[in-house]
Amino acid sequence: MAVREVKVCLLGESGVGKSSIVLRFVNDSFKPALESTIGASFMTKRLDVDGVSYQFQIWDTAGQEKATFRTVKDWVRELKRNCTTDLVLAIAGNKSDLNDLREVRVREAEEYAQSIGAHFIETSALSAINVPQLFKAIAEELPPEDSISVRPGSTVHLRRHDENKETQTSCCGSKKSR
Ligand code: GTP
Ligand code: MG
Repeated sequence: MAVREVKVCLLGESGVGKSSIVLRFVNDSFKPALESTIGASFMTKRLDVDGVSYQFQIWDTAGQEKATFRTVKDWVRELKRNCTTDLVLAIAGNKSDLNDLREVRVREAEEYAQSIGAHFIETSALSAINVPQLFKAIAEELPPEDSISVRPGSTVHLRRHDENKETQTSCCGSKKSR
């Protein structure tokens, strides 16, 4: 089976459960007293979806401040400002096991997600609810590999002066000679 590599970056405020989601997805485990992430951590996990094998390369970043729903919007704004490639966005409403302490209504979160073309899913790393489904939803949103285009400006043309061959490379893509 062909393996498709997918780079995933988890963003969000400190304590929302990013590392716990990764731990649940990668190891199917939960640590109640997980240390706050310093810098970023990296993990990989393979998941088969509809006959395709996806190798998730997951960057788990360190959140900075206390979490509020408003800051999800700030993350998305920041992301769109800085990212030149096409993105698949998914919003996880984590800690769904703490329904009594709910701060964001499902409807509100769904409407926001829809407005930015993101997938929304409620998860619980603690209770093992919907965590693989979050990554499955990302895989399902990926464009077919042969349809991925490199945008003008993100390509660097390199020409070796001793040969009349041109090498094309993109910032995070593979290198190909032609
Ligand atoms: P930073 O690394 O500081 O950015 O935080 P983080 O987003 O990685 O959060 P982390 O996974 O470390 O979890 C923070 C706290 O929330 C920990 O005490 C976890 O045990 C708890 N937690 C994470 N996920 C869940 C969940 O689904 N339900 C409940 N009840 N607690 C959770
Ligand atoms: Mg963390």
